[in-house]
Amino acid sequence: MRRDIENALKSAAKRLKKVHLAELMQLPSRTDFMFQFEDLELDCTRQPLDAESLSLLLELAEKRGLARFMDAMFAGEAINLSENRPVVHCDLRAPAHLQSDAFKTLSAFAEKVRGDKNITAVVNLGIGGSDLGPAMVARALAGYHDGADCHFVGNICPTDLHDVLVQCEAHKTLFIVTSKTFTTAETLTNAKLAKAWLADAGVDSADAMVAVTAYESRARDWGLEQVFSFDEGVGGRYALWSAVGLAVMVAIGRDRFCEMLAGAHAMDCHVKTADYAQNLAVIMGLLRVWHRDYLGATSYGLMPYDQRLARFPAWAQQLEMESNGKGVDRNGKPLPHPAAPLIWGAAGTNSQHSFFQWLHQGVESVPIDILIARRPAEDWGAAWQASHKMLAINAVAQAESLALGAPNTDEPHRHFPGNRASLLLSWDKTTPYALGRLLALYEHITIISGFIWGVNSFDQWGVELGKQMAHNLQSGQGLDAFSPAARRFLKRLNRRI
Ligand code: F6P
Repeated sequence: MRRDIENALKSAAKRLKKVHLAELMQLPSRTDFMFQFEDLELDCTRQPLDAESLSLLLELAEKRGLARFMDAMFAGEAINLSENRPVVHCDLRAPAHLQSDAFKTLSAFAEKVRGDKNITAVVNLGIGGSDLGPAMVARALAGYHDGADCHFVGNICPTDLHDVLVQCEAHKTLFIVTSKTFTTAETLTNAKLAKAWLADAGVDSADAMVAVTAYESRARDWGLEQVFSFDEGVGGRYALWSAVGLAVMVAIGRDRFCEMLAGAHAMDCHVKTADYAQNLAVIMGLLRVWHRDYLGATSYGLMPYDQRLARFPAWAQQLEMESNGKGVDRNGKPLPHPAAPLIWGAAGTNSQHSFFQWLHQGVESVPIDILIARRPAEDWGAAWQASHKMLAINAVAQAESLALGAPNTDEPHRHFPGNRASLLLSWDKTTPYALGRLLALYEHITIISGFIWGVNSFDQWGVELGKQMAHNLQSGQGLDAFSPAARRFLKRLNRRI
């Protein structure tokens, strides 16, 4: 049965590879490849898809039991098998959570900080999921920012923290030490440096530092008194909706933060209830699988046409690659096919003047998602609106030129082969609600494609070996196991310090 559907998909891919997108795009039934949820429109007309291949992909989802898996996730079953945990981040955006003591305490604190005019800067110290989500949202919603200045420091590279601290005053700065595990070397090292910086200015860190973690006692043992916790079933890269979003809540306020949660919850409801043939997350998740396993794409681009969404690709990169960048299935058996592609991207139109050359004329064909709000984020008058219109026109122009191409047999350098897939995802305006909905969509794309690939999208054992080796090199443990080159490098470092 499994083989039948896979073979049918392989034949469909083989057949479609021979049809140019320009041809498919002319078919009168092409509007069947446009989908909508609220004002969010998904245009898949420039995808190498026809009715048969789409229905086979939907059949694949059905045969693999996607609906049962999604139900299990929403019901709180322990679907994260390798860690024996449920996956509960969707609960954080359900209306019931807003009534919980945890949310009330967190949001009251955020509002208190917003009301305290002596706090002019908030610095989030965290890395990976404890940084990428809130940093991306803070920038995406810059137009709603009416709280203290908000900074994000992730890297252990000393310049990261230093370059933020030079912009802050110790007496007016609040540090949020954000770490799910509260063991992450980068975050704890930066927190120690921040503590010393406060002490140098005569500020007691108890007044100027709070913690966000799933392991409250570790934060207390580290010396922090005010701790906001969240459930360990909230994966780091899915944690934006939890107390990990505290810096964002300080920046935009509780009400706006709740609007973002409402948008994400609306997407959860759509994913749960919409027919799979009209379900945006299911269709986009299946497209990941289609391109990777059947059309041979090794990478996948995400191009937000929105400067404030410039950090979106980095957030989605961790989300998809840490979740699905695996070589074994949920039971530890080698995968029979590749899973997550390389996820990358940058904001348009800047990227058009950079790597889009490669997208248009490079030897490989790489599918991309083009993301755009149809209206500008702010109303600054007609001339600014005209800029936004140009931005949106560029987004469509890229989608069209990638797909249609422009043959030129006389001048090979000017030949555009076309037939390069993109999808256009657009919404009315980037409000907190629309952003929450968009981010939840990409979370579900990740989970759905990960399920079809058969991987556990909620663990990340692959990051552990490097951490262990760094620890050993740092502490001098087991140096004999390292290569002569590594030992030589370490010796040189030690000489310099
Ligand atoms: O090293 C990877 C990782 O574990 C991510 O999964 C996580 O988002 C990040 O580090 C930070 O972890 P923590 O929030 O526990 O400090």
